[in-house]
Amino acid sequence: MFEELVIQSHKGAYTVIFDGETLPNVTGLVEGVPHFLIDANVARLYAAELADVLAHPNCITIEAVESNKSLEKIIPIIEQLVQNKVRRDHTLVAIGGGIIQDITCFIASTLLRGVPWRFVPTTLLSQADSCIGSKSSINLGDTKNILGTFNPPEKIYLCSAFLDTLDMKDIRSGIGEIIKVHAIDGADSFDRLALDFDRLTIDRELLLKYIQSALLIKQRFIEEDEFDRGIRNIFNYGHSFGHAIESATRYTVPHGIAVTIGMDMANFIAVERGFLPAEHFARMHGVLHRNYEQYADASIDIDVLIAALMKDKKNTSTTLGLIFPVGNRAEIQRVQVPPDDVFRSQCVDFLTRLAA
Ligand SMILES: NC(=O)c1ccc[n+]([C@@H]2O[C@H](COP(=O)([O-])OP(=O)(O)OC[C@H]3O[C@@H](n4cnc5c(N)ncnc54)[C@H](O)[C@@H]3O)[C@@H](O)[C@H]2O)c1
Repeated sequence: MFEELVIQSHKGAYTVIFDGETLPNVTGLVEGVPHFLIDANVARLYAAELADVLAHPNCITIEAVESNKSLEKIIPIIEQLVQNKVRRDHTLVAIGGGIIQDITCFIASTLLRGVPWRFVPTTLLSQADSCIGSKSSINLGDTKNILGTFNPPEKIYLCSAFLDTLDMKDIRSGIGEIIKVHAIDGADSFDRLALDFDRLTIDRELLLKYIQSALLIKQRFIEEDEFDRGIRNIFNYGHSFGHAIESATRYTVPHGIAVTIGMDMANFIAVERGFLPAEHFARMHGVLHRNYEQYADASIDIDVLIAALMKDKKNTSTTLGLIFPVGNRAEIQRVQVPPDDVFRSQCVDFLTRLAA
């Protein structure tokens, strides 16, 4: 275990500070004038511990629902910041999970052509994955993550005590991204995690070990390809299908759980298309299924799913750019696939098995 992780980015180095079990003194985290953007559930659950933040005149509370992570819904937040007289030498502080992060990061990139921001991630997904990597993603209407910027925070304060109050579905969602990162690291890394999988929800030390190892694996890719033009693309393993599943279920399936179903679906289709030996699907299916089993009966309409896949940023005008495990070592790679009847029937086969 380590106390700090330094990440290189186009804006210079930034640091993840591991605060352990002690809730940070959030109002003390910024030297100048702060503007807090805080998740409404976190504000309610930590009303006593975060009393200073909540009493601050520049505190904006936001419901962390996917529909609020949209261009239309962030306008009132920007208006509030302007009313609070935000300036370029002030600092936005996001306190919440990936939704509050995406909103804050996007606003920080564009407001006054750039305001610094810092992040206190409060979900497992945001602590183990999204807090590093610079990305913001905003929805436009029904199209998920169509707008975005690359804009790392100045600092990230990671406190595992916030995980105590998370719902099990949000723990599973974070574990989904942890599984994804270890699968990208290689079959051995995934298999080690698979052995520990059942203890992740009950052993905090072990979970912290996997938060740190997920961040270390991701660090290698984002430092090499921060702007996602090459090798970082493979971090979309499970995501093209996952985003489509989120759309098709109107976001009732949490992001990281949709990604877990998406990885299983990618593995299934890779076997069907002949570029992954079947034993790899079987090797990974047990853990993936256990992570998403409470959502296995989600109703996923094939036409909505295909329509959502067609909107993915990685597509060309004629093919879908999908990420699959390939070959005897199940290496995660990008493969262009035509959205034809064969692909559609492979998707239907997977969804039929899922519902069975
Ligand atoms: N920018 C990126 O790099 C990136 C990467 C992955 C995912 N994302 C985005 O992140 C979003 C998902 O984020 P998420 O899974 O972190 O969760 P979230 O922000 O959607 O929050 C999930 C739920 O947990 C609640 N919550 C937050 N902290 C809590 C706490 N400590 N205790 C109890 N409840 C708490 C929230 O109020 C919400 O109800 C999606 O919109 C996804 O697209 C962004």
